[in-house]
Amino acid sequence: MQGTVAISGAKNSALPAMAAALLTAERVALHNIPRVRDIITMAKLLAFMGAKVGVDSFPGADYSIEAQALTHAEAPYELVKTMRASILTLGPTLARLGIARVSLPGGCAIGARPVDLHLSALEKMGAEIATTHGYIEARAPRGRLRGVRIRFDKITVTGTENILMAATLADGETILENAAREPEIGDLVGLLRKMGAKISGDGTATLKIEGVQKLGGAEHAVIPDRIEAGTFLVAGAITSGDLTLINCNPEHLGATITLLQRAGAVIETTGPHRVRVHAPRKLTAANATTEEYPGFATDMQAQYMALATQAEGTSVIDETIFENRFLHASEMMRMGANISIDGHRAVVRGPAALSGTTVQASDLRASAGLVLAGLVASGETIIERVYHIDRGYERIVEKLKALGAVIARVHGQNQ
Ligand code: EPU
Repeated sequence: MQGTVAISGAKNSALPAMAAALLTAERVALHNIPRVRDIITMAKLLAFMGAKVGVDSFPGADYSIEAQALTHAEAPYELVKTMRASILTLGPTLARLGIARVSLPGGCAIGARPVDLHLSALEKMGAEIATTHGYIEARAPRGRLRGVRIRFDKITVTGTENILMAATLADGETILENAAREPEIGDLVGLLRKMGAKISGDGTATLKIEGVQKLGGAEHAVIPDRIEAGTFLVAGAITSGDLTLINCNPEHLGATITLLQRAGAVIETTGPHRVRVHAPRKLTAANATTEEYPGFATDMQAQYMALATQAEGTSVIDETIFENRFLHASEMMRMGANISIDGHRAVVRGPAALSGTTVQASDLRASAGLVLAGLVASGETIIERVYHIDRGYERIVEKLKALGAVIARVHGQNQ
């Protein structure tokens, strides 16, 4: 594959940014929001709650959200079941209205994914929380949360975002220890600051938030999607191609770039927002362990596994973040990959000649991994349940096609 591809805005930054608009009665205008299914779901949720959500309604902005009068402090099951990130409405709604009701997200294909850390942190801030009839019902006594010191037992990305947002309107200072350091957290801090929040420590594991009485409107462009960028880096490397990614932030791609370089890809940062990848015919095996940022992202694991099937030697892939995130491996094995799974570890022996067949996508990143495997498989690969990919990749078919991939969306298949 050859050519230039523009990276879209980060879904996982856009979702908390949209939820943050619940913290103020004024308008929050957001730019660089990717046109993907999860964003549409979040927009529906905010509209259900009573926010005015305009698409392209503010000059140059993708979304303009005005949560002047919130009529429903609730995230209903119908929306939460299609997108777990709906939990991001809990912190801001509770902080703004003193009450919130959010459907409990269930497990998902990649693991149990509880929200206990979000809830215990809010309880520390004074919230009274009950979980009944499948809903989290939270109430802040006298309508306000209070600032406290919180230490997460385990690093959680949306948990950090929820507490960060809740703390901006709490009484007093919140100190959040063992916080996530993902670039999406820094981006949310940037937006909240523009809205008038007092936050320090972003980029480190300890965030300090001084609650304020009220937040105001703001205008913000979300950061580029580092997982989409990483996926295209793998696409370039796995096809021995030559791709240039534009509108990306190379600083956020450190662990992925290092890993792909170890596997033999040549990756150069050719400008502040540009990266070029090209690769020799032969890739070499390299081990990978998923970790919290700045480590290698679990959201890149399936894509890297596709590459490892094509690399000479044995690559050991350890998944440390989610308990069940290897469902794509069995589908890759149906395509001829040599992979063995033992608990949290996958051992991939390559190179294997993949051959196209019908496979099933189990989640968003698994679908991306299967698309990448399909790019190098002989013959035709049909990916079912491809709706997963539309949750988080903007115009993926069009972008890959423009780079020379032979790919089409087939309607009327089993989804
Ligand atoms: N965890 C708990 N209790 C909690 C919260 C998390 O035990 O209360 C555990 C999880 O079960 C998991 C680990 O902690 O084992 C980390 O989960 P985290 O909370 O960080 O994940 P998340 O916030 O639900 C976000 C991204 C995911 C990404 C993970 C890890 C968003 C909207 N989602 O999820 O993105 O995989 O962080 O980096 O930001 C994706 O985009 O495909 C995706 C799944």
